[in-house]
Amino acid sequence: MRSTIIFFGVLFLWIAFRLSYNEAIVFKFTNAICESYNESWFVIHKCRLKAVNRTVNTMNLNGTVLHPAYRIGVQLQMFKRANGYKPWLFNIHLDVCRFVKSQYNPFAKVVFGLFKEFTNFNHSCPYVGHQIVEGFYLRPKSLPHAIPSGDYLLSMTWHFDKRPQFITKIYFVYMEDL
Ligand SMILES: *[C@@H]1O[C@H](CO)[C@@H](O)[C@H](O)[C@H]1NC(C)=O
Ligand SMILES: *[C@@H]1O[C@H](CO)[C@@H](O)[C@H](O)[C@H]1NC(C)=O
Ligand SMILES: *[C@@H]1O[C@H](CO)[C@@H](O)[C@H](O)[C@H]1NC(C)=O
Ligand SMILES: *[C@@H]1O[C@H](CO)[C@@H](O)[C@H](O)[C@H]1NC(C)=O
Repeated sequence: MRSTIIFFGVLFLWIAFRLSYNEAIVFKFTNAICESYNESWFVIHKCRLKAVNRTVNTMNLNGTVLHPAYRIGVQLQMFKRANGYKPWLFNIHLDVCRFVKSQYNPFAKVVFGLFKEFTNFNHSCPYVGHQIVEGFYLRPKSLPHAIPSGDYLLSMTWHFDKRPQFITKIYFVYMEDL
């Protein structure tokens, strides 16, 4: 009985801590830049942030793959700002067609987990037609654990047939606002 009370007491404190901890975090987009390197294969219509309120900016992307892409790769690189943006944590090349089937890379799995519910970009290859990310916003709860406070850049260079076709650069801030 006594140990049960202690157990629930600790559980309650832990939950209270997690909740207040999450609310004290600012985790939001600060900028988005997209550029096509080959407008005869990938056209960008929209690449924009929209301010919803003080703590939330949504990201909205819309592009068209003009011909079916069967071999898709992405170079995912994280940067953290410290006198300019410096490489941070990971720089990986991902086979997208393999990833959408097996989520074989843990870093990419975290990134994809953040936005998969806001996109139609979650099916098997090939990819053709409109690719959309709509109303995507960041939530600290979607991260497996906290990251150091700071300004970050996630750069994604997308390849079709092993050649770069477009880049998406996503800037965000993560700040423990205690
Ligand atoms: C650009 O896209 C076209 C398809 O529309 C493709 O044939 C060509 O190889 C691409 N160029 C590069 C450099 O990837
Ligand atoms: C900001 O908007 C998000 C998403 O709609 C919402 O969940 C959150 O409660 C809002 N925060 C404030 C401070 O209004
Ligand atoms: C994406 O852009 C295309 C071309 O401008 C447009 O036809 C389509 O409705 C847009 N889709 C969304 C969801 O904004
Ligand atoms: C893709 O996203 C749609 C819309 O959110 C969802 O219904 C579907 O289950 C997702 N598919 C996969 C493979 O995650």
